[in-house]
Amino acid sequence: MTTCFNQSRGLYTVAKSFLFAGLLAFTAGCENTKKVAESANTPTIDLQKQIDDTDQQLEIAVPKLTDLTKHPRLIETNGTEWVEVNNGKLVWTSGFYPGILWYAYDVTGKNKWKQEAIKRTEVFEDFKNITEHHDIGFMMFPAYGLGYEIGGKKEYKDILLTSANSLASRFNPKVGTIRSWSNQMHPRWQQHITIIDNMLNLELLFWAAKHGGDKRFYDIAVTHAETTMKNHFRDDLTSWHVLEYDTLSGAILNRHTKQGYADDSRWSRGQAWGVYGYTMVYKETKDKKFLDFAQKITDKYLSLLPEDMVPCWDFDVADNPKEEKDASAAAIVASALLDLSTMVENKEDQKRYYNAAIKMLKSLGSEQYSGVGKADSFLLHSTGAKSLGKEIDVALIYADYYYIEALSRLKKMQEKS
Ligand code: GLY
Repeated sequence: MTTCFNQSRGLYTVAKSFLFAGLLAFTAGCENTKKVAESANTPTIDLQKQIDDTDQQLEIAVPKLTDLTKHPRLIETNGTEWVEVNNGKLVWTSGFYPGILWYAYDVTGKNKWKQEAIKRTEVFEDFKNITEHHDIGFMMFPAYGLGYEIGGKKEYKDILLTSANSLASRFNPKVGTIRSWSNQMHPRWQQHITIIDNMLNLELLFWAAKHGGDKRFYDIAVTHAETTMKNHFRDDLTSWHVLEYDTLSGAILNRHTKQGYADDSRWSRGQAWGVYGYTMVYKETKDKKFLDFAQKITDKYLSLLPEDMVPCWDFDVADNPKEEKDASAAAIVASALLDLSTMVENKEDQKRYYNAAIKMLKSLGSEQYSGVGKADSFLLHSTGAKSLGKEIDVALIYADYYYIEALSRLKKMQEKS
């Protein structure tokens, strides 16, 4: 297997710039685990250029993606165009493409992105009744939630409330968490499975509780966050991926991984879901214990990063130069850090988190990670599930989603200041 940084990107590739970028990237690959130095200088990015780049990539990609029953999921390592998959009920990524289009409308003001977002959102209204897994939050919030918030589509409210009810149906009060996966699809585990990624789905419950939904949705989200904080993290503040609980007693049966390198390793995107999740839970609850925890796990994550701020797909294989990066984790954390920087009181912390987010966005928008001129995505070099032998050094739709979310958050912050 080749490493992530010496792949040709087909027709788009300009050999000279590729070789240059490849060399640069390779020297900043997973082997470079040098700790991030606290910089006294405030880093800057050309935000408008990075927004223009996303707009340009959508201008190229959207006309090619005409089948509304499908959504773009990934671009293969040597590919240039999105591979589409069905908007199936079990496909957790269905909401990210409409979500990207809502954010594109937000950052560019172009009505055509709003019209595209509406078309791509409304095709899976019936997913509001999904009770087979926890991913209904990942699927419905970027599509219908952003449609309500950014697109002014107030008629989406009932769909979101029904979706929250479906998600809440998976809460087990004995365990104190939502059951993430079905045992049928993940037969390694026989009882109640909760994964760290599940933290993101709580946003749907908080939103629903604030918008006329059952107050129970709020309580479920808080209890899930508390239980996960207690059980899902090691003493060193990194998280396991998968916990299996006894369905009846709520006892922890084991702690494993599905997408990390090993059960006890530190899967980078898992850490990123934790950082984003607890930052969001503090934003929704204003309970200081969640802020304190969000800061602790964020500081741990930052302490593990290489100089280019984009982690190897698992922190425990980062010393091996052949291992691949995961730009999706960097995009998720960059977006979370912008929010965190506005919520902490200490000025030094505000600056630290803001600067780290800017450095991540700068790195992601650079020649090294940008898809511009190479493929139809915003970003390259993500790794979805290396332990399962798939989605290795590819472009991923959710990397693009959290990247454009971060650009939108930064734009709003700059407009306020
Ligand atoms: N929630 C699935 C993932 O992070 O791959």
